[in-house]
Amino acid sequence: MFLLLFNESECGFSMAILTKTKSDAEDYMKYKNKFISALALTTGLILAAPSQAATVWKVAAGDNEGSAQHAFGLKFKEALNTGSGGKYDVKLFMASTLGSEQDTVNDVSLDTLDFSILAVNNLTPFSPTVGIFTLPYVVQSLDDAVTLTQGSVGQELVENSVRDAGVRIVGWTYTGFRVLTNSKKPVRTLDDLKDVVVRVPKNEIMIDTYKAWGINPTPMAWSETFTALQQGVVDGQDNPYVTVNAMKFYEVQKYVTNIRYIFSIEPMIMSEQLFQSLKPDMQKVVLDAGLAATKASETFLIENEAKIRQNLIQHGMKIVDPANGEKEWIERATGQVWPKYYDSIGGKDKLNKALRALGRDEV
Ligand code: MLT
Repeated sequence: MFLLLFNESECGFSMAILTKTKSDAEDYMKYKNKFISALALTTGLILAAPSQAATVWKVAAGDNEGSAQHAFGLKFKEALNTGSGGKYDVKLFMASTLGSEQDTVNDVSLDTLDFSILAVNNLTPFSPTVGIFTLPYVVQSLDDAVTLTQGSVGQELVENSVRDAGVRIVGWTYTGFRVLTNSKKPVRTLDDLKDVVVRVPKNEIMIDTYKAWGINPTPMAWSETFTALQQGVVDGQDNPYVTVNAMKFYEVQKYVTNIRYIFSIEPMIMSEQLFQSLKPDMQKVVLDAGLAATKASETFLIENEAKIRQNLIQHGMKIVDPANGEKEWIERATGQVWPKYYDSIGGKDKLNKALRALGRDEV
């Protein structure tokens, strides 16, 4: 007597046998060979080699689905999958589910996380030269952001981040100007700002910018910001329209001021250890996917920013412009903050190199 057991698995199927005696085993072998021939003849079944499962990397992101970070992540996933012939894939963990943006830099640096997409201001504490993108009023348009990130300034920052933090920037998300939102009142002047409690990222340049504007901001992790706004721990914050919308800040914020002090640039960083473990052709696939996602991010912003602004208005937000073309805000921020950070961005020359690349006067 023998019993045949069939086990369907990823690799096709296997047959096992339960026998009692040696003659049972011989009967089984005869039966098995006949069975397989019959199966092949009658069904034309081909026992294919197992298909290899893709390696799946983890990608953390600070913002919700629907954000510019999400659009970037989806394009990166698609391009990586196609470029690697299905051998590599990523899983996106949105909305800070893998930790605050600054925590994810540590994790990527230690190679306990593969990738993170985060605002550049949250990378600056780990690699100070990227602070050039957080210096107020340096980047004044999407074109400026593209010129700097995709040119020699950006390339130098890629190398510096590997050196300083063990993370490699493989692409750039463009999210638009960080506008000021608050729950109290329309803010047009620095005088209006005086009694508004504003959350800022834990970034010295941004803290000093608000100080130059006359208030002491509240540094706080991005992952805690919505709750702090909801509970009235802080009255306001700044982030681009696209982010304000994706994070549903319109539920807890009423007023928007169109300041243009930082154009939000949000790199995707990768563990340098992981990058170096890849063969050169696979490194190229990753970098090409990063570039494809960078280009898609430009298109996402161009196609969606105006619609998203309208959506914020439909949700009841009141949008105002700063008084006098933002003159006082600009003068105070550039006058007081720029000189303080020349050293940390690598010297005044680095700022002048960026200004030259943008066709602007040197300082
Ligand atoms: C922050 O305010 O900390 C970041 O800009 C959030 C983000 O990544 O959108």
